[in-house]
Amino acid sequence: MPNRGKKQRKNKRTPGESIKILISGPRIQRRIQALAKQIRRDFPDEPLHLVSVLKGGVFFLTDLARSISGEVSFDFIAVSSYGQDTRSSGQVRLTRDLDSSIEGRTVIVVEDILDTGMTLQYLLKLFQQRKPKHLRVAVLLDKPDRRIAPVHADYVGFSIPNEFVVGYGLDYSERYRNLPYVGVLSLDSKLAKKAAKK
Ligand code: IMP
Ligand code: MG
Repeated sequence: MPNRGKKQRKNKRTPGESIKILISGPRIQRRIQALAKQIRRDFPDEPLHLVSVLKGGVFFLTDLARSISGEVSFDFIAVSSYGQDTRSSGQVRLTRDLDSSIEGRTVIVVEDILDTGMTLQYLLKLFQQRKPKHLRVAVLLDKPDRRIAPVHADYVGFSIPNEFVVGYGLDYSERYRNLPYVGVLSLDSKLAKKAAKK
């Protein structure tokens, strides 16, 4: 192993960006354990099919799937709704469909964050047409103040204030997804102005 100095061990940020921890890794893990139990209690005897939204929902899916007892399968779908900045374009587009049919199955949609609700509104409509036996929504984070579409999540990890967060799957221009915690991203005013103009 190379001898890594203190400086290199620090999580390096792009200049002008800083992150303040909002929800620690251990807190996220504890909450996921509780959600897993709750989900299994609601469906004690059913095989559960988790459907996660790439890429942000992946860490939540893998931790949740490993915490739910009994029969669990999963699949992935991808949509694009955000551009390169911190504001939603408001448009949702399907970029990768599921591998298998969800007809007659108990489906839990697993998303990183419920923000305006546009993404989940689109997905729930799409999935409902495919006639699942049950269709539920689990989100790690909920920003209720930002809601535009009337979407309800059945399982919510944490309700958070209206701040742009990264980590645990959530990105800013594809960066920071790998942080083991959720943190609030701050941009220095010059960069923030540039992002707001987009
Ligand atoms: P919605 O369609 O506005 O509910 O947004 C859902 C998607 O927007 C999420 O799956 C994220 O990819 C992205 N998103 C919303 N809020 C944030 C945030 O604070 N940080 C990073 N991504 C976010
Ligand atoms: Mg996402």
